[in-house]
Amino acid sequence: MNDARVPPATHAALASPVPVAFSPAQLAEVRRLQGLYPDPRAALLPVLHMAQDTFGYVSLEVEEYVAGLFALSPAHVHEVVTFYTLYFQTPKGRHIVAVCHNLSCHLAGARAIIEHLEARLGVAVGETTDDGRVTLQSVECLCACEHAPMMQVDERYEFDLTPEKVDRILERLR
Ligand code: FES
Repeated sequence: MNDARVPPATHAALASPVPVAFSPAQLAEVRRLQGLYPDPRAALLPVLHMAQDTFGYVSLEVEEYVAGLFALSPAHVHEVVTFYTLYFQTPKGRHIVAVCHNLSCHLAGARAIIEHLEARLGVAVGETTDDGRVTLQSVECLCACEHAPMMQVDERYEFDLTPEKVDRILERLR
């Protein structure tokens, strides 16, 4: 679930910079995905991923568009988007740094790792650095508890974190 401390953004801040409409090929893919399930609404998650890849993030406008493709209310789609940390409601950074905050990581010092990242990046959890380099997240268990505290950096897991190790990881992110 998204971190509770992320402030609600305004409509203006969430407006997508590009026209919100899938191409004919993408619409065909939507129909194909919907046809894979007894209930076509089961395709909502992959279609939201497609929307995010296409429009950069899932703005309220995008939510409304996708809702129309599924005959769902925009509020329903918004609930889904805000539940999963993999969907971004504002433009995301070139790199996603997601620190696990669940029990094992919490007991092993995840809070201190998050505070270190916030200080080094100059952003709070849920925010993106001004240069668009990094979006910082705090997420639920990533199933690598034996290496707590840990985080995911883009597609890669980083284990047994210390502030010094975090600094070395950040230096590699351009
Ligand atoms: S509690 Fe952090 S990976 Fe499971």
